[in-house]
Amino acid sequence: MKTQVAIIGGGPSGLLLSQLLHKRGIDSVVLERKTKEYVLGRIRAGVLERGLLDLMREAGVAERVEKEGYSHDGTLISYGQEMFRMDFKELTGHGVMVYGQTEVTRDLYAAREAANGKIEFNVENVVINEADSKAPYVTYEVGGKSRRIDCDFVAGCDGFHGVSRNTIPGDVRREYEKVYPFGWLGILSETPPVNHELIYTNSERGFALCSMRNENLSRYYIQCSLSDSPNDWTDTAFWKELKRRIPPEQAETLITGPTIEKSIAPLRSFVTEPMRWGRLFLCGDAAHIVPPTGAKGLNTAASDVHYLYNALRDYYENDSEAGIDGYSAKALARVWKAERFSWWFSSLLHRYPRQTAFDHRIQIAELEFLRSNTAAQTAMAENYVGLPY
Ligand code: APR
Ligand code: PHB
Repeated sequence: MKTQVAIIGGGPSGLLLSQLLHKRGIDSVVLERKTKEYVLGRIRAGVLERGLLDLMREAGVAERVEKEGYSHDGTLISYGQEMFRMDFKELTGHGVMVYGQTEVTRDLYAAREAANGKIEFNVENVVINEADSKAPYVTYEVGGKSRRIDCDFVAGCDGFHGVSRNTIPGDVRREYEKVYPFGWLGILSETPPVNHELIYTNSERGFALCSMRNENLSRYYIQCSLSDSPNDWTDTAFWKELKRRIPPEQAETLITGPTIEKSIAPLRSFVTEPMRWGRLFLCGDAAHIVPPTGAKGLNTAASDVHYLYNALRDYYENDSEAGIDGYSAKALARVWKAERFSWWFSSLLHRYPRQTAFDHRIQIAELEFLRSNTAAQTAMAENYVGLPY
C-alpha cells in the first residue's frame, strides 16, 4: 500500500491530522492498535481551548460540539474557607468549551468514516522503517498477515506508550520528566453537576476538582495516594472525602449517586526533543505529557497537529520544506509553555507529601496574589483559555 502520510495511532491526534489532511486532498492511512470501541471507551478530560475548536471547525467536525458543548466563561478556585472566581472572558475575551474528549474522538471517527478514510484497527508489531530517508515505510501485522505502507511522511500519534518516540535514536533524543508523588482518583456519576462552572480546590486534605460532561453527567476528582487503587474507594468513601475538600456550600448541595466509572491516573510532566527525525514527526502524547490539572493534554496535541498539518500543506501545495524543517522548534515552543502552566497550576493546588508549613503558606500567598491581582489573573487566564498557535 502507498500513501502520502502514514499516521500511527487512532486517538484524537491521529484522527484530527488525518481529517485535516483529507480536507486538503492529502492522503493518509491511520494505524490503530486497539478497536474503535476500546478507543472510545477511554474517559479523558473535557475542556477545549479555542484553538482546538477552530481546528475542529476547519476539519468539518464542529457541528455537535457547537450544539452540545458548554461554553464556560470562568472557573472557581477555592482554598481553605475562601473561594474566588476567575472571569476568563473579561480578562482575555475568550472562554473554554466543556465537551468530553471522548466525544471529540467520536466526532472524528464519524467524519473519517463518512469520508471513507483508511483506518486499520488491531494492528500489531508496527515498525517505522527508514524514517531518516526520503522513502520511509511502515511495516505491521493485522490478522496475522504482514503489511507494508510506503509513504512520504510518518506522523507518530501513538501516545505515550507507542513506538514512534523510540524510533528516534537514543543519541538523538532528549527526554525531560517530572513524576508527581500523587494521583487523581476520578469518577463519573449520572448526577447534576454541583456547580455550573468548574471548581478547583486546594484543601487541607488535598486537591479536588468538580467538573461535568452535561447537565446530568458529573465528573469529580480527588488527589489520592499513588498506592491507592480504585477498589480501595467505595462510592460512599469517595463522596464523603470530596465533601470534606470542596467549599461548605457546595458540599451541602452536592447531589451524589452511584459512580459509573472510577479510575486513578498518575500525574507526570514529560517532553521529548526533538519532535522530528527525518520524515517522522511526533504529535500529542507520543511527544509530551502534562498533569491533567490545566486540561492541556488534548489541547497541546491540537497545536502540534495544527503545526504539522500546515507544514505538510506547505510541502504538498507550495513545494516548500520550511514548515517541516521548522515543525519541531515551533511545536516545542508551545509545548513547554503548556508544561510550565500545568506544572505551576499543579504546584498551586496539590498537597505534597513532604510539604512544609512554609511551603503551604507560599501556596496560600500565591492564591491570594492570584485572587487580588488583575495581571496575575490575566496571565493565568491566557494560559487556561489557550495561548495563540
Ligand atoms: N500502533 C498503533 N497504534 C498505537 C500504538 C502502536 N504501536 N501504540 C499506541 N497506539 C494508539 C493507542 O491505542 C491510542 O488509541 O495510539 C493512540 C494514541 O492516542 P492517545 O493516547 O489518546 O494520544 P493522542 O491522540 O496524542 O491524544 C492526546 O488526548 O486522548 C487525550 O488526554 C489524552 O493527552 C491525550 C490527548
Ligand atoms: C475534566 O472534566 O475531566 C477535567 C476538567 C478540567 C481539568 C481536568 C479534567 O483541568
